[in-house]
Amino acid sequence: MVAPARGSNQDFAMTERATFGFQDVPVEDKQALVDDVFHSVARRYDLMNDLMSGGLHRLWKDAMVSALNPPRKSFGKGSGRPWRLVDVAGGTGDIALRVAERSRGHAEVTVADINSSMLAVGRERAAKRKLEGISFREADAMALPFEDYSFDAYTIAFGIRNVPRLEAALAEAFRVLRHGGRFLCLEFSQVDVPMLDRIYERYSFRVIPALGRAVAGDAESYRYLVESIRTFPNQERFADLIRAAGFGRVSHRSFSGGIAALHSGWKL
Ligand SMILES: C[S@@+](CC[C@H](N)C(=O)[O-])C[C@H]1O[C@@H](n2cnc3c(N)ncnc32)[C@H](O)[C@@H]1O
Repeated sequence: MVAPARGSNQDFAMTERATFGFQDVPVEDKQALVDDVFHSVARRYDLMNDLMSGGLHRLWKDAMVSALNPPRKSFGKGSGRPWRLVDVAGGTGDIALRVAERSRGHAEVTVADINSSMLAVGRERAAKRKLEGISFREADAMALPFEDYSFDAYTIAFGIRNVPRLEAALAEAFRVLRHGGRFLCLEFSQVDVPMLDRIYERYSFRVIPALGRAVAGDAESYRYLVESIRTFPNQERFADLIRAAGFGRVSHRSFSGGIAALHSGWKL
């Protein structure tokens, strides 16, 4: 199947269409399809991430949490209030667990994800590690169940490309952040290193679905994951969308030749 142009998700969204991998679907159908993928892979999700990326996703997530730099004591001079993070599409809790560890329990982290199976794995992991300050909430990135100005930071890692209406998710990110709050998004992006792009393309389409079949018993879900990466806006185009949502001082940096990118913005 021929890949739609990068970022075409946005064009479809305007006409109430969305991409589900390389398929063009009505925007209102996409979420259920995405939900099926993550219900299917939840129990093998963490293992598959390690296998597919050779552990690289751990380094990218560490870099994201370093950029976030969660405070190690109560936030605001004398206020004693906790520093609050919402990790949207937080799934099995990779970002939340890192932030809780790094902040030594001073951060209050809410993992918000639409998928109960992913959240169930996250809850088990947090309980096993006896980490404090993490709560899990079933929630849609496009309609977050939080008041305006609730959080000091908003993170989303490998989640936003799965959301049917990208602009709606960015608008919600802006709404729930306080003034001066930080937006950070880690997502697969466009490889910009000659040769690596071809190797990565072959690896993605040949190896990953086969690995999905062998390890998670599900090639199709992993084919979707690979295809959804190809239809997501590239670094520059995504930065423009973040600016359009109202964020200032928008910047981005690529990891591993652009396989992933970290975008940052501030609610000024
Ligand atoms: C690839 S996983 C990422 C999980 C985790 N952030 C990580 O980096 O390992 C994508 C997550 O996005 C979630 N998701 C998809 N659509 C969503 C939506 N509309 N609102 C909230 N979460 C959503 C899925 O349920 C899934 O847990």
